[in-house]
Amino acid sequence: MPDRIRTRELAAEFIRRGDPLGWFEALYQEAERGDGAVPWADQEPNPRLIEFWKAHPLETSGKRALVIGSGFGDDAEQLAAWGFKTTGFDISKTAIEATRERYPETRVEYVVADLFQPPAGWLRAFDFVLEIYTIQALPANLRPGAIEKIAQFVAPGGLLLVIARGRAEDEPEGQGPPWPVTREELDGFRRAGLEEESFEDYAEPEPPWVRRFRALYRRS
Ligand SMILES: C[S@@+](CC[C@H](N)C(=O)[O-])C[C@H]1O[C@@H](n2cnc3c(N)ncnc32)[C@H](O)[C@@H]1O
Repeated sequence: MPDRIRTRELAAEFIRRGDPLGWFEALYQEAERGDGAVPWADQEPNPRLIEFWKAHPLETSGKRALVIGSGFGDDAEQLAAWGFKTTGFDISKTAIEATRERYPETRVEYVVADLFQPPAGWLRAFDFVLEIYTIQALPANLRPGAIEKIAQFVAPGGLLLVIARGRAEDEPEGQGPPWPVTREELDGFRRAGLEEESFEDYAEPEPPWVRRFRALYRRS
């Protein structure tokens, strides 16, 4: 069965049971057993993160970065290679264990943690927070709370970079995950006290020309 179809099936099953976060661990476990694959696991840092960095290299010396839903760790490793003291966290224990196996020499601190119940010490503690594709993997009713939590990790003067599938306000979100997000939803970061530095709305250059948002926020 194609990975995307299995992912949707699992997500729907867990959401029906009232456990909208449980399918991530189930999916990683299936992949670990060799029974399917994780559809977002590209085995490389996100190209849009690399592109962002080429245009906006940041001072990293003595700075801390946090990666939300770090999956198999490729983006967290990239931030560490750029010089950040980096923490990556994921709700899936299996994903974190697989990441530690992939990167046995890593300098990244990988933590099993739930975005909705993060360690208290992470509050306003990070100079650079990276969120790629986690919000869009959560059902609509959980997204405002997730956005508020993510905003809380940004230290005064710190930045948050968000990359997500995008859709117009009047467009149905379709059958997910992923559920593309609206700009209005991402405005939740502003309502949570961050300033929007830039907002890009673009289509990927190759088929199926997925629409994405890439937004940068700052806490003043
Ligand atoms: C769609 S994947 C994206 C992974 C990675 N950021 C990437 O771009 O490849 C979403 C990730 O967020 C994790 N996740 C989902 N809900 C979470 C939560 N409440 N707390 C922490 N991690 C979560 C999932 O386990 C999964 O690894």
